[in-house]
Amino acid sequence: MLDDVLEGLSGRQKTLPSRLLYDARGSDLFEDITALPEYYPTRTETAILNAAAPDLSRRIGEGAVLVEYGAGASVKTRILLDALEALAGYVPIDVSDDMLAKTKPLLQQDYPELPIHPVVGNFLVPPPLPDIDPRARRVGFFPGSTIGNLDDADIETFLAGAAEELGPDGLLVLGVDLKKSPDILIPAYDDAQGVTADFNLNLLVRLNRELGADFDLDNFRHEARWNEAESRMEMHLVSLADQGVTICGKRFDFAAGETIHTENSRKFDPAQIERLLAASPWRVAENYRDASDLFSVLLLERR
Ligand SMILES: C[S@@+](CC[C@H](N)C(=O)[O-])C[C@H]1O[C@@H](n2cnc3c(N)ncnc32)[C@H](O)[C@@H]1O
Repeated sequence: MLDDVLEGLSGRQKTLPSRLLYDARGSDLFEDITALPEYYPTRTETAILNAAAPDLSRRIGEGAVLVEYGAGASVKTRILLDALEALAGYVPIDVSDDMLAKTKPLLQQDYPELPIHPVVGNFLVPPPLPDIDPRARRVGFFPGSTIGNLDDADIETFLAGAAEELGPDGLLVLGVDLKKSPDILIPAYDDAQGVTADFNLNLLVRLNRELGADFDLDNFRHEARWNEAESRMEMHLVSLADQGVTICGKRFDFAAGETIHTENSRKFDPAQIERLLAASPWRVAENYRDASDLFSVLLLERR
């Protein structure tokens, strides 16, 4: 973590890896974001999954193992856990060990027969799966448009790694946020209640606590930007003054107005999705969408 932080803050555009947003507090704040009126992705993806569940169940068949990448609180997962027949197991993978530990007993209570094997790890470096029946079909689940937080190279790495982990008869259910007007996008990442601002600023709280940094929280503010050329929402932390910050003995200078770029949320168009999949071992078996074309859930199969 320290190496990633020092490297990210040493570039001309200062950056921090978005996965660091998800400590215990960050994961809770993200759950709060998903319930905000401005945050259309969660309710849209939930509606698509609810409508698609019978078809997904039919295509996936009985006795599969569900492997979720970036599972968080496993809320949408419940739609699949309810719909899929005789699941042989559920493997939530996340960098947030707190969230995994908090979620497992809640899920186990509601699905007492289901073997649940949480795995703490980075989905870009697929962690070994726990001991699961090698004959069971493996179905990946990558919702929340978390794929939009990755650049092309990381998407290629993820899709190749997931294909290897899920095997030749594996399937992948992938949630993808679609390109739309900035009038809808900007409020989704800069809500009126300031929850997204807290989520972004919490990254500095985390660096102060875990790395002994001395960020002055009153001297930074959250900003959500639409980058048309890259078709992505960006979250930045804007320095409100000329200031210096020290992390583990290393000083970083900020000019007033200079930013730390903390997250990208890419918004895809169909041609882009096609291009990314063409460079992967996957092809589209089904595309489930909402009537307003806000979001898409793809069922991918191996080519
Ligand atoms: C955008 S949230 C999505 C959460 C949930 N799947 C949903 O759809 O609401 C991203 C989740 O992925 C996790 N995450 C982010 N980067 C990760 C990585 N490189 N490896 C594993 N988990 C990661 C975060 O901790 C967080 O729980």
